[in-house]
This record gives sequence, structure tokens and C-alpha cells, in this order.
Amino acid sequence: METPDTAAAPTDRRASNTLTALVGLAVAVLVIVFVFNTNSFTSHWYAFFKWAHVTGAVLWVGGGLALTILALWAERKQDPVEMAMLARQAAFIGERVFAPVGLLVFLAGIAMVINLHWGWGTSWIVIGLVGYALTFLTGLLVLGPQAKRIGQLIETVGADAAETQAAIRRILLIARVDEGVLLLVVAAMILKPFT
Ligand code: HEM
Repeated sequence: METPDTAAAPTDRRASNTLTALVGLAVAVLVIVFVFNTNSFTSHWYAFFKWAHVTGAVLWVGGGLALTILALWAERKQDPVEMAMLARQAAFIGERVFAPVGLLVFLAGIAMVINLHWGWGTSWIVIGLVGYALTFLTGLLVLGPQAKRIGQLIETVGADAAETQAAIRRILLIARVDEGVLLLVVAAMILKPFT
């Protein structure tokens, strides 16, 4: 028989989902109001693309930085179970959140360049394009396959096996370099060097 606690769980979940949806809706409505009431940009489209681009970058780069900090902390504690859990969470969020959000950042960036005729040869745009290509290829060719391999290692030899831990340390190190590339692109976008 269900206890009152477990019976209440779906209702709590529904309430939480409703609140999340309402917050999302309120933010979306206010963003549209802001987009149509800003005088900082040449067009409403440019304002919208820039909002999408920078908000996506905040989610992507900020999320990656939070994972990097947690990875450094887990490494310091030398806790294999926590390391394995972090690797799994990073694989999940990398594939389900960072990859699509990264694509949105890229497409919104392209849209802004076309909309305002920034010029494809502009140094900070070239840095953005190269940075995106590097991070895209790293995700596709290294982080994705390595994350799958770590999942298999956890299933077969266990989270605290030396082989699994070495693979986790390697992937977290590569992810750290990837995060460095993204931070450099952010700096280039803000400071627009060599122009
Ligand atoms: C690696 C991914 C990227 C990240 C994390 C990123 C991040 C950012 C950030 C934080 C800004 C705001 C800068 C500011 O207003 O001071 C920005 C602006 C911008 N980015 Fe990116 N960007 C990326 C890739 C790209 C790419 C590939 C392009 C073009 C193809 C691009 C084009 C632009 C443009 C046109 C602006 C607006 C500049 C302005 O209005 O002053 N970005 N980007």
C-alpha cells in the first residue's frame, strides 16, 4: 500500500513542473517585451539573436565551468564514486544540453554576422568560428565516444577500477581544455581584439 508520502510525490512533482513552466513563460514574455523596447541595437532581430547567443553562451560556458569546479573538488577528495557520478552527469548534460545550446549559440552568431554585415574576416569572428569548430570536433570525436566508454567501464569493471578512474581523469582534463577554449572565445567576443 502507498504511504501518504509516496502518494503525495506526483502532486509535488506536478506543482514543481507547473512552477517551472510559469517561471519560463514569465521570462520568455519579459524577454520579448525587452527585445521590442531596446534602443541599443539596429533591429529587433539583432536584439533577439544577441539575447539568444549570449544567454546560450552563459548556460553553456557557465554550466561547463561549474562542472570543472566540481571535477577539481572531486579529484582533490580522491573519491572514485563521486568522480564516476560526475563523469556520468557531465556526459548527460554535455549531450542533452551543451551540444544543442552550443548549436544555438553558433546559429545566432551566424545570424548576427549576416544581419549586421560584421564581415566574416573580422578577427574576433574568426576566433569564434575556430573556437566553435574546435569544441564541436572535440565533443564529437573525443568527449562523446570517451563518455560512452566510461559508461561501459563502470558497468563492466566498476567505478573504482584503476582503468575507469584513469579514463575519467582523462576526459575531465580534456573537458577542462575545452572550457578554456570557450572562455577565450568569450573574451574575444567581449574585447574584440585586433580590430
Ligand atoms: C564558441 C562559442 C561562442 C561563444 C561562447 C560566444 C559568446 C559571445 C558573447 C558572451 C558575446 C557578448 C559580447 C558583448 O556583447 O560584449 C558574443 C557576441 C557576439 N558573438 Fe559570439 N560567441 C561564440 C561564437 C560566435 C560565433 C561562431 C560567431 C559568428 C559566426 C559569433 C558572433 C557574435 C556576434 C556578432 C556578437 C555580437 C557582438 C556585438 O553586438 O557587439 N559568436 N558572443
